[in-house]
Amino acid sequence: MSHESGVFSILHLSDIHATQGNLLYGQIDGLARVRQVGDYVLSAGMTPEVVLVTGDLAERGHSGVYPEVKRALQRLGDRVGAPVLTVLGNHDSPTDARALAGHEGGHYRSVTIGEARFLLLDSSGGALGAKQLRWLKGELETPSGSGTIIALHHPPVASPLPTLSRTGLRDASDFAEAIADSDVRIVLAGHYHHPMSATVAGIPVSVGPSLAYHQVMNAGPDSVSGHNLAMFSLVQLTDGLVSTAPVSLYPDSPLFTSPAPQYATAID
Ligand SMILES: [Fe+2]
Repeated sequence: MSHESGVFSILHLSDIHATQGNLLYGQIDGLARVRQVGDYVLSAGMTPEVVLVTGDLAERGHSGVYPEVKRALQRLGDRVGAPVLTVLGNHDSPTDARALAGHEGGHYRSVTIGEARFLLLDSSGGALGAKQLRWLKGELETPSGSGTIIALHHPPVASPLPTLSRTGLRDASDFAEAIADSDVRIVLAGHYHHPMSATVAGIPVSVGPSLAYHQVMNAGPDSVSGHNLAMFSLVQLTDGLVSTAPVSLYPDSPLFTSPAPQYATAID
């Protein structure tokens, strides 16, 4: 937590879908977008304590791109002055992703940044599985400093989009049981390529949007439709509150720009 502001900020990226050689759908350069996030964050004056990426770092089949992903994320972390944490998604190769920092010995782990404990989970197979859930429960038996943040790719809640509604975490009910009555302050996920918020076991869940493409709600009952929209989230925690704010990397030109409103602080 920043001592100046009292706020712990997480720059939450998801679903980069980095490619090697060809652009994704002929248009999307995930690694270029990672660089653009750095530009945006610096221009906006954001000062995250950590950069978190919730999976689908690489597009399926682009296994040779992980060293480039590692370098791009390291550069982003260096530019914004924050460590980078990653989890894997269903597009990621668990074998080739061992090239990533922190993944050399496995794909789930506990990391403490300041007073915040991050439990980074591996749902690359679509579920956590009994072994990882046992580990998660064991970790949560001991509360940590200012609370725990869980990161995983597959949301433990269903998307309202019918074609995605069955693609969330397969063992979501076991996950909910594991985190109930714990010090978990928020669960951060990705996968759906549209932002959403929910609660599980009374704990906030934020599904971050994708940096690669956005899946719209009006694609029809039997379709998914990805649109060229790059987004990330800014997650903030204070002593008593959590908030998440989706941010578009390519905002349209402003309708207006004016001085911030002034609010009276006293009544005379
Ligand atoms: Fe994805």
